[in-house]
Amino acid sequence: MIRWGVIGCGRIAHRFMQGLKEVPGTEFTGAWSRRQETVDTFIEQYGGIGFESVEELLNNDIDAVYVATLPDSHHLYCILALIAGKHVLCEKPAALNLLTLESVLEVAKEKNLLFMEGMKPPFFPLYKKLKEYLETDPIGEVGYVRAGSSVADISPDHPNFSYDLAGGAVMGIGIYEAYLAVEWLGNTKQVQAMGRFGENKIDMFTIFQTEHEKGYGQFYCGFDLHGKGDALICGTLGNITIHKNWWNPAKATINYLDGRVMELDVPFTAGGLNYETAHFCELIKAGLTESPVITHEMSRQMIAMLDSARGIIGLKFKGE
Ligand SMILES: NC(=O)c1ccc[n+]([C@@H]2O[C@H](COP(=O)([O-])OP(=O)(O)OC[C@H]3O[C@@H](n4cnc5c(N)ncnc54)[C@H](OP(=O)(O)O)[C@@H]3O)[C@@H](O)[C@H]2O)c1
Repeated sequence: MIRWGVIGCGRIAHRFMQGLKEVPGTEFTGAWSRRQETVDTFIEQYGGIGFESVEELLNNDIDAVYVATLPDSHHLYCILALIAGKHVLCEKPAALNLLTLESVLEVAKEKNLLFMEGMKPPFFPLYKKLKEYLETDPIGEVGYVRAGSSVADISPDHPNFSYDLAGGAVMGIGIYEAYLAVEWLGNTKQVQAMGRFGENKIDMFTIFQTEHEKGYGQFYCGFDLHGKGDALICGTLGNITIHKNWWNPAKATINYLDGRVMELDVPFTAGGLNYETAHFCELIKAGLTESPVITHEMSRQMIAMLDSARGIIGLKFKGE
């Protein structure tokens, strides 16, 4: 039985709990968040212990911690949890910037514990099916990835709009695109970016394009335009469209150069976080300290890409 503790009881933590119920061999021990009220509501819904402090949670007999606070505090709670001897699954982006991510990875290494950034798309059944399918019927050398997400109906009090909580389009959405770029095109060589700011000092809409070992990427992320939410991956023998919303993938179309078309339709269950949680639990059972899917180097590459894009558009957070 893998016993879980949750730090931060907001929207995504609820979705995590929806998924956890579907992962065999797991148990929810309890949660802590900044406001007692939030913790109480969470515990009423899922049972377990409502801890009064993060220390109390970390001193408890739990194996793994899910960090679901906001990017300004991810590194802090990850480090506290690792020091307390817990394996850590941390929401995306795993840290504010590369420097803070390195501090987390260093502690994970010192403590010989598992640390993984919660980058969900590769664990979805559609994504896995797509990868399996491409092994027998490939699209050749992939050289271009284009993807976007702009969600214009987010409530104005959402933390995405908070400068103090390290919000903004690049941090909130760009990280998924960074994943797609690194996953299909390899390490980043160059980043170009342009961004438009709102009154709240965070980027409301950013476009960035990247050069990688294997090709080019073009991406948009935003909060004030209604985007399409699909992804295009082009290879020498064909292309793949992962239909909206590609970050919660359920449908894809492969168009081959010879005219063949392959449609993949694989729905997901339980909100979709169950797959990454199951993967994480398997890694614990196998005694691994790093995921072979979302490696530490991949997390470094992703956050470094955001650092570069933010640097270019001029978005620096407090203390940077
Ligand atoms: N994987 C995905 O599909 C996905 C989707 C959405 C978001 N996310 C990521 O998940 C994270 C959380 O997003 P969300 O939408 O769940 O935000 P949210 O609804 O605002 O929830 C954040 C929770 O963390 C708590 N919190 C914030 N800062 C804290 C701090 N310094 N110390 C202790 N508790 C703190 C908040 O407590 P209070 O209740 O006291 O405010 C709240 O309960 C973000 O990093 C976001 O990028 C991932």
